[in-house]
Amino acid sequence: MAGNVTDRLDRPLRDLRISLTDRCNFRCTYCMPKALFGVSHQFMPRRELLSFEEIERLARLFVQLGVRKLRLTGGEPLIRRDIEDLVAMLSAIDGVEDISLTTNASLLTLDKAKALRAAGLRRITVSLDGIDDDTFRAMNDVGFPVAKVLQGIDNAAEAGLTPIKINMVVQRGVNEHDILPMAEHFRGSGHIVRFIEYMDVGNSNGWRLDEVMPSREVAELIGSRWPIEPVEPNYRGEVADRWRYRDGAGEIGVISSVSQPFCGDCSRARLSAEGKLYTCLFASRGHELRDRMRAGAGDDELLAYLRGIWSRRSDRYSELRTHETKPIDSRKIEMSYIGG
Ligand code: GTP
Ligand code: 5AD
Ligand code: SF4
Ligand code: SF4
Repeated sequence: MAGNVTDRLDRPLRDLRISLTDRCNFRCTYCMPKALFGVSHQFMPRRELLSFEEIERLARLFVQLGVRKLRLTGGEPLIRRDIEDLVAMLSAIDGVEDISLTTNASLLTLDKAKALRAAGLRRITVSLDGIDDDTFRAMNDVGFPVAKVLQGIDNAAEAGLTPIKINMVVQRGVNEHDILPMAEHFRGSGHIVRFIEYMDVGNSNGWRLDEVMPSREVAELIGSRWPIEPVEPNYRGEVADRWRYRDGAGEIGVISSVSQPFCGDCSRARLSAEGKLYTCLFASRGHELRDRMRAGAGDDELLAYLRGIWSRRSDRYSELRTHETKPIDSRKIEMSYIGG
């Protein structure tokens, strides 16, 4: 039953992004606005979450269908206890070439970073939307200071979780003034800042096209301060366009999911914390895997099911959205549910 699978648009399945929890200790205004994710919000009960054993089993099956890269996400994945045990299980799977983690770094102590590295994690991506403390505190909306995230980044670097990527979601009028300071702060650090166009994920952020700052503008702004030149992609289907400073101070990236969608090469599948498979970040419906496993489905049955889902896939939401400029489906899943 094993063997690679391609979808209706001839895209292979290469990347599996695994959400470990829908919880987060931040309330970023564009992701988990307090009005919707307040004290009365019902998060997934523990028993609903996939166990580490279930995640490992699914990852192994996905690898048989062509997956080579795993990314652990959330919500905030470090909220999940003993996550290093899962990393160790995943890195023991034959065929996995890359394991990374997307985190807000608020819980990344040096001990945690070392434990993750020892378990086989190679690198991390840190979400940090501003370097100006007031801006960042307002965006995470729990008053979390920049300095503590920078400490988490230093801990990761000391533990060897490199290269570190730093994701900044740029919102016009909210943190655009922090683009140059952000670039300046990380120039020469060896870390790679990526400026991400604000997307209309989920339904709770009240997204508007005029809040998107196109990557082209971001690159022009940075390039006018410190000359930059384009760099070839690391691999086919890479999400970020790479640029390097001509003076040798390192690399930045821009992610243009709104202005220049990259669905044509999208080989990413997403697994929610409760075990549903989504074939697009903007899907409104997931495919139930957990209950099948808990009902006793064997590996061959699951492989056939996964193969069927992927071979029928035709998602390309971001390409369609560019023409429509407004949500096509109002029941999209939230980013905090499915991860980045
Ligand atoms: P590496 O190249 O493996 O380091 O990862 P990556 O470039 O995929 O980066 P990451 O996973 O950090 O994704 C960065 C951001 O790009 C996410 O937070 C999203 O905002 C956006 N993004 C990633 N994957 C997709 C996707 O499949 N569709 C869309 N529309 N946006 C995506
Ligand atoms: N648009 C773009 N990126 C987003 N992220 C969360 N919500 C959005 C959005 N609306 C990013 C976070 C983090 C990753 C998990 O996804 O900043 O880097
Ligand atoms: Fe948490 Fe990341 Fe969402 Fe912010 S963007 S609320 S850190 S999951
Ligand atoms: Fe892939 Fe969907 Fe994102 Fe397009 S919008 S790149 S198909 S996840």
